[in-house]
Amino acid sequence: MNILIVYGTYSGGTLSVAHEIEELLKASGHTVTLQNILTTSPSGEYEYRTKDLLELLKSNDLVIFGSCTWLEDGVEGQMHSGFKLLDKELSTGPLEKIRCAVYGLGDRNYAHFCGAVDQLEKMVTGRRGKLITPSLRIDRYFFNTDKALKDIKDWVGQLSKSVQRT
Ligand SMILES: Cc1cc2nc3c(=O)[nH]c(=O)nc-3n(C[C@H](O)[C@H](O)[C@H](O)COP(=O)(O)O)c2cc1C
Repeated sequence: MNILIVYGTYSGGTLSVAHEIEELLKASGHTVTLQNILTTSPSGEYEYRTKDLLELLKSNDLVIFGSCTWLEDGVEGQMHSGFKLLDKELSTGPLEKIRCAVYGLGDRNYAHFCGAVDQLEKMVTGRRGKLITPSLRIDRYFFNTDKALKDIKDWVGQLSKSVQRT
C-alpha cells in the first residue's frame, strides 16, 4: 500500500514521529512518502505548493496528517500554519473517499492540548475524507520519548488493522 505522511513542524518533533511511523509501516511492507507541509522557495521564503500536494493526496491509498500545536497569530492551540493554508485552499471534495489518519504533538501544560488534532480532524471530515482510526495525541514528545514510542507503535498497529478492514 502507498502511504503519504504530510507533517508540519517547528522544532522537529513531528518530523521525528513521522520517521517512527514510516519505519513501522515500511517494516509491514508498505511504501511510505514523507511530505513537509511547507517548502522553501529559492529566495528562502516558506511556501506551500497546493498543486503538488493535491496530486500527492490523490495518488496514495492512505494519507496521515501530523502537526504540532502552536501559538499562531497570538492564539494557542492551533495547527501548523501550513495546514491553515491548506485548510483555506482545499475545496469541499478533494479528500472524498481518501482514507486518512491524524496524529499530533503537544504539551498538556497548555490550555488546548493537541488542539491541532481537533483542527486536522475537522479539516479531513469537512472535505469528506474518511478517518479510519482514532487520532494519536503525544504529550511532550522530547521529555516522554519512551512512552511516545510505545504509543506510536500501538497506534500504527491499530492503523494497520483499520486499513485492512476499510
Ligand atoms: C509557543 C508555543 C506554543 C505552544 N502551544 C501549544 C498548545 O496550545 N497546545 C499544546 O498542546 N501544545 C503547545 N505547544 C507545545 C508543542 O506543540 C510541542 O512542544 C510539540 O512537541 C512541538 O512539536 P514540533 O517539535 O513538531 O514543532 C506549544 C509550544 C510552543 C513553543
